[in-house]
Amino acid sequence: MSAVNLAIETGGIAFRNPILTASGTFGYGREFEGLTDLRALGGLVTKGISPKPRFGNATPRICETASGMLNSIGLENVGVEGFERDKLPYLRECGTRVLVNFFGATFDEYVDCGARLDALDGVDGLEMNVSCPNIKAGGIEFGTDPRVLRDLVRACRAAIRKPLWIKLTPNTSDIVALAVACAEGGADGLSIINTITGMAIDARTRRPKIATIFGGLSGPAIKPIALRMVYQVRRAGVSLPISGIGGIQDATDAIEFFLAGASTVQVGTQSFVDPDASGRIVRDLEARLAADGIHDVRELVGALVVK
Ligand code: FUM
Repeated sequence: MSAVNLAIETGGIAFRNPILTASGTFGYGREFEGLTDLRALGGLVTKGISPKPRFGNATPRICETASGMLNSIGLENVGVEGFERDKLPYLRECGTRVLVNFFGATFDEYVDCGARLDALDGVDGLEMNVSCPNIKAGGIEFGTDPRVLRDLVRACRAAIRKPLWIKLTPNTSDIVALAVACAEGGADGLSIINTITGMAIDARTRRPKIATIFGGLSGPAIKPIALRMVYQVRRAGVSLPISGIGGIQDATDAIEFFLAGASTVQVGTQSFVDPDASGRIVRDLEARLAADGIHDVRELVGALVVK
């Protein structure tokens, strides 16, 4: 047995370690079979699922930027039925915790989608997406007004028995108010942060690099903003556990998020660079803690020294 404990129970779920993969960057899990050992991960978060399948936005819908990338996928997904029929059988056997990211275009769709996914065996928890900047109805529309968000979380909470995490947008002037709203609505955890709205221009063609003009910026470029928001929510005393997301490339980045107050982290854009990024971070984290004489990863959570 390892001398270092990486296991953590948080947000209503017991994880073997705190390294998860982020929604929208890890497909439905199977895409990474043979590229990383899913059984070594703490968990994975699926692509966002809606009640019906979606084809997503026009192309091009992804482009590289300095220290990051822009995406405007438009939440392409197979829908609840397709997910249950074609994706879940593999996920039931994949050997890691499965959180399903979900969303709808209306309040009722959110509740309906969440309730249907909640009823499925093999789903360990749900992550509600109120932070996608790339769709016209739903997504971020419900994620920037604290009262609307609180009411939506409350409505979904009433229909969902499994752990319910809320993925927040950084496209706000007050992340703490959104976090408080989720706590009031009865959430079990927060995922902080989704992408930051941005754009990229091709100077030669004089055109935007992605078809929807604006997209969501992710990758190392956003890590300082993500750390700041995780820390702000923790410092404000919001009681919900936080899953930190934003530009995590290595074990040091993960540790920084733990110190800021996250109890798990989600690896996103880095999985496109290195499909084994999350597995490597688990291995390096264990080695790093052992070398530093830290016996339990939980010692790091919120352990930032500010004086
Ligand atoms: O466009 C997209 O599919 C992005 C989704 C998200 O950021 O949640």
